Amino acid sequence: MLAARTSHHSLAWDVGTGNGQAALGVAEHYEQVIAADVSEGQLSFAMSHPRVRYVHTPESMTEDEMVALMGGENRVDLITVATAAHWFDLTKFYKLAKRLLRKPGGIIAVWAYNDIDVSPEFNTISERLREKFSHFRSADAKYAVEGYRNLPFPFESVGLGHEGQPMQLEIPKELLFEGYLKIAKSTSTFELAKEQGVDLLSEEVIEELESSWGGPSKVRTVTYKAFMHARTVTKN
Ligand SMILES: C[S@@+](CC[C@H](N)C(=O)[O-])C[C@H]1O[C@@H](n2cnc3c(N)ncnc32)[C@H](O)[C@@H]1O
Repeated sequence: MLAARTSHHSLAWDVGTGNGQAALGVAEHYEQVIAADVSEGQLSFAMSHPRVRYVHTPESMTEDEMVALMGGENRVDLITVATAAHWFDLTKFYKLAKRLLRKPGGIIAVWAYNDIDVSPEFNTISERLREKFSHFRSADAKYAVEGYRNLPFPFESVGLGHEGQPMQLEIPKELLFEGYLKIAKSTSTFELAKEQGVDLLSEEVIEELESSWGGPSKVRTVTYKAFMHARTVTKN
């Protein structure tokens, strides 16, 4: 959908790439993808692909160094940020993005998800858990919880979503309970609570969730509740 809207397909930049799972999808449509992350630890899980170049971009890198790394201004056809934009210094990131994007014709897309629809019974338990998680949530995570409705996104519309109303995306995926648990345990909120001595996923809670899931070997088709802003820029 995004590739159909950029005028060229030479270069994409996947920011906050982690293990590169979004970059791999982008690489199906662009000649080169530069997949960047501030964390060398995350990049150690990167999945290799002939058209994806992984780069470590520490916080200390200047804007001009980033532009040089990307080969100059006005060259990037697509910028993607999957489940990461809410952690960024957005003023800094958007200024850089505006310099890098091809004008006209480049697109910037940021997306995330804030819920996984499993089954009515399971959702009731996870809803109760979300309420407990909410007491430990950082301010940045709130952007994602609110479905990016309040995430600043100062770009020009391409007809995908509206101001304050990101596109809603329902993404199906087959998942084991183990996968679901890994996701829940990898959230910043879970970590923040742990630092304060609170285990949001105690053995008891896990058992209740697993039993409602249908056991450890049950593969469920779940739906990720995702949302996306995608826009363009015509001037710096
Ligand atoms: C939740 S992970 C998402 C990873 C990947 N995009 C995905 O969809 O699986 C968020 C990533 O953003 C990275 N990150 C956070 N702040 C960043 C920044 N300022 N610049 C680049 N990456 C950043 C983190 O290191 C982490 O790998």
